[in-house]
Amino acid sequence: MRTLETGSTTLITGASSGIGRAFAQRIAAAGGDLVLVARREDVLLALADDLERLHGVRVRVIAHDLDGPDAGRALADKVRDTRIPVDALINNAGLGVHGDLAMAPLASATTQIAVNVTALTTLTALLLPPMVTRGRGAIINVASTAGFQAVPHMAVYSASKSYVLTFTRALWREVRGTGVDVLAVCPGATDTAFFDTAGEAASVGSRRTPEQVVDSALRALRAGRPSVVDGRGNALVSWLAPRLPERVAINLAERSVRPTTE
Ligand SMILES: NC(=O)c1ccc[n+]([C@@H]2O[C@H](COP(=O)([O-])OP(=O)(O)OC[C@H]3O[C@@H](n4cnc5c(N)ncnc54)[C@H](OP(=O)(O)O)[C@@H]3O)[C@@H](O)[C@H]2O)c1
Repeated sequence: MRTLETGSTTLITGASSGIGRAFAQRIAAAGGDLVLVARREDVLLALADDLERLHGVRVRVIAHDLDGPDAGRALADKVRDTRIPVDALINNAGLGVHGDLAMAPLASATTQIAVNVTALTTLTALLLPPMVTRGRGAIINVASTAGFQAVPHMAVYSASKSYVLTFTRALWREVRGTGVDVLAVCPGATDTAFFDTAGEAASVGSRRTPEQVVDSALRALRAGRPSVVDGRGNALVSWLAPRLPERVAINLAERSVRPTTE
């Protein structure tokens, strides 16, 4: 058995669309069984049906809202009740909201933190130990190029993705030698429904496809890297941003996502 392939089971959060859906399609095509998680059960059931028919794999669906302080634990409880051993976890569910903190409802900040940070951390903390015990497994956390810099108008989002990146890099070293691989994948602008919530102003540069993000992630996981940025242009900007003078970096990021005035 190889992780993310035949004989293994991968749990993907945010599998109903975009990058999570592309991960599900790729893993099913490689013969891997899946547990798909998101809020929209009907969408997940239709995808599960397609993948089972096309690839002969087993796909379970858990409809679950990851917003809320205990949402990650509640999902882990549901997984435990199914008695499915999860060999790999892809923490992909996430959202970004464009808008200044002083003008936004508090729920906008707390939801981004709950889904992007709290649920990701809780699921990792609860699903990693059995992987370590079995001596094999994989965890892919979906961060963002926004995690390399402070992005005004998306302060909570960029901070949440910095967390994901730092958390995952540290974890990568903690699990060394256990047989578990850990990776943060950092997409730049990618063509998904993300911008339905984040708004078009949040889109910087040309968009890549979810399939390209999955390619980058799986290649980097095989290479044993702690993190990877999808796309050369995105990699260059992510390398440069932390090396610029602080104010220059913040001002450039602000300009790139500045709200357009009608
Ligand atoms: N697209 C980009 O440009 C881009 C760039 C950098 C990073 N990312 C990251 O990539 C990841 C995937 O996003 P995407 O681009 O594929 O966007 P997307 O198409 O909007 O997908 C987001 C997924 O997250 C799920 N989700 C959102 N809120 C949830 C909640 N409260 N509970 C459970 N599931 C929830 C959604 O499912 P339901 O609505 O069915 O719940 C959906 O499956 C996110 O972490 C995002 O931050 C995206």
